[in-house]
Amino acid sequence: MPELDGRIAIVTGAARGIGLAIAAELTEGGARVAIVDLDEGEAAKASAGIGGPELGFACNVSDPDACHDLLGEVEAKLGPPDILVNNAGITRDNLLLRLGDEDWERVLEVNLSGAFYLTRRVARGMMKRREGRIVNIASVVGLTGNRGQANYAASKAGLIGFTKSVAQELASRNVLANAVAPGFIQTEMTDALAEDTKEAIVKNIPLGRMGTPADVAGVVRFLVGPFASYVTGQVIVVDGGMVM
Ligand code: NAI
Repeated sequence: MPELDGRIAIVTGAARGIGLAIAAELTEGGARVAIVDLDEGEAAKASAGIGGPELGFACNVSDPDACHDLLGEVEAKLGPPDILVNNAGITRDNLLLRLGDEDWERVLEVNLSGAFYLTRRVARGMMKRREGRIVNIASVVGLTGNRGQANYAASKAGLIGFTKSVAQELASRNVLANAVAPGFIQTEMTDALAEDTKEAIVKNIPLGRMGTPADVAGVVRFLVGPFASYVTGQVIVVDGGMVM
């Protein structure tokens, strides 16, 4: 029997990229996965190829009311979630002196506040049931910083601090929280970079290639499964050895 059989999972930002790969991997593991994204049609299209179109849900994670409603919808359709993967994220890159207030706020709202709203909403039920797994998709940039990404790096560093605090608060109820920090992964987010920038980055990756969404998804499957039952408050770096 697959190890996640009977589990209900929520993955945000799952219509494409890393989120979609995570949703597919957890479905492969036996879970029923609610695929959450901004656009209901996109979410339904993505979920149609995995667990069925009825598993697509629309939610802007930066809106606390929408997060509240989403949980109600998922619970009514699938049951209470055992697993939450906060994956939705955006970039609005610019050098510090050119970084506008709106780009600062938007990145913090989606990448950090979004994870807070949903985690707070699912935590009560998980604590009551004495079981739950939360995985936050951070970034190596949250550990190292990066030129032109002060907003993004701050959001991801914040997500790491948030993860460790939640892990400490919920551990006594057997609710585990960890972060995954991907390095340079091939998705639409990184497709936007110039070819020479990509080549320069790959030169600094010991494994000599960009990661794939599946490289990240496998680690998430491990963290929400039985082999990670004694792992909480950790940041697992998935970057081909770029940061050691
Ligand atoms: P992507 O841009 O391909 O996909 C992100 C998904 O999130 C999209 O489907 C988008 O519609 C959705 N989304 C955006 N704002 C949302 C909101 N407010 N509410 C709900 N959904 C929303 O990005 P990718 O590359 O798949 O990234 C996924 C996560 O991994 C992000 O948190 C990103 O910061 C992180 N990451 C990505 C890396 C990479 O190299 N691609 C490296 C490190 C971290």
